[in-house]
Amino acid sequence: MEIQLWRQILEPYQLAVDELVVKFLHVKQQYQNARKYSPIEMVSGRVKKVSSILDKAKRKGIGIEELEEKIEDIAGIRLICQFVEDINTVVEIIRNRSDLEIKQEKDYISQSKASGYRSYHVIAYYTVQTIGGPKKLEVEIQIRTLAMNFWSTIEHSLQYKYKEHMPDELRERLLRAADAVEVLDNEMGSVRDEIMDAQNSNKQRATIISDILGNIENLYYVANR
Ligand code: GTP
Ligand code: MG
Repeated sequence: MEIQLWRQILEPYQLAVDELVVKFLHVKQQYQNARKYSPIEMVSGRVKKVSSILDKAKRKGIGIEELEEKIEDIAGIRLICQFVEDINTVVEIIRNRSDLEIKQEKDYISQSKASGYRSYHVIAYYTVQTIGGPKKLEVEIQIRTLAMNFWSTIEHSLQYKYKEHMPDELRERLLRAADAVEVLDNEMGSVRDEIMDAQNSNKQRATIISDILGNIENLYYVANR
């Protein structure tokens, strides 16, 4: 396919990713402005590279004309949480949004993949406005903890390096590391309340100081008028 045509196909997906990243960052912002703990820690997004789209199409026997229909993760959003407990809250936030219509949920947290991969996936429909009118497309939202993200980033690089030929020993080690991630997430969960308290009071201190500075600035302005 011509590069120009790829651009045309992928552009709305870029728009969807850009919009959703902004929207989820604002969810985090709203929690912070309300001086509440945010279940979303980090937001990122990407449009799948043409080479990866072609690889996946070949791997799954998907024809060029059915790419958009069959490949659900052309637009990908990643929401990173601090704690496993936050993941449900984030999924609930997504379920309640009127701009996202859920197509499917995949819970690889209760049931991890054979590789050891853990994450919660939501495939949803999202509509963007293009010069040709509205376009409804699919986005894949991956929700996972910082620790799960650490594991999957490393494992992904290794998969990429070895393709289908990852040595058994390495595979074993990754499985053990995945178990360690689960233990770590559970441990962190058990001190979650304490951590949330600490973060809230840090933020409150920072806001009080910035409020005071703002007041001084205003007084200074009034006094020198
Ligand atoms: P692909 O795995 O992309 O072919 O799609 P699928 O239709 O099998 O969906 P699945 O839910 O298995 O995976 C979707 C996405 O989750 C992938 O594109 C990856 O980003 C991520 N993922 C799934 N399995 C793994 C895994 O074993 N390791 C890592 N690092 N990521 C995974
Ligand atoms: Mg897969």
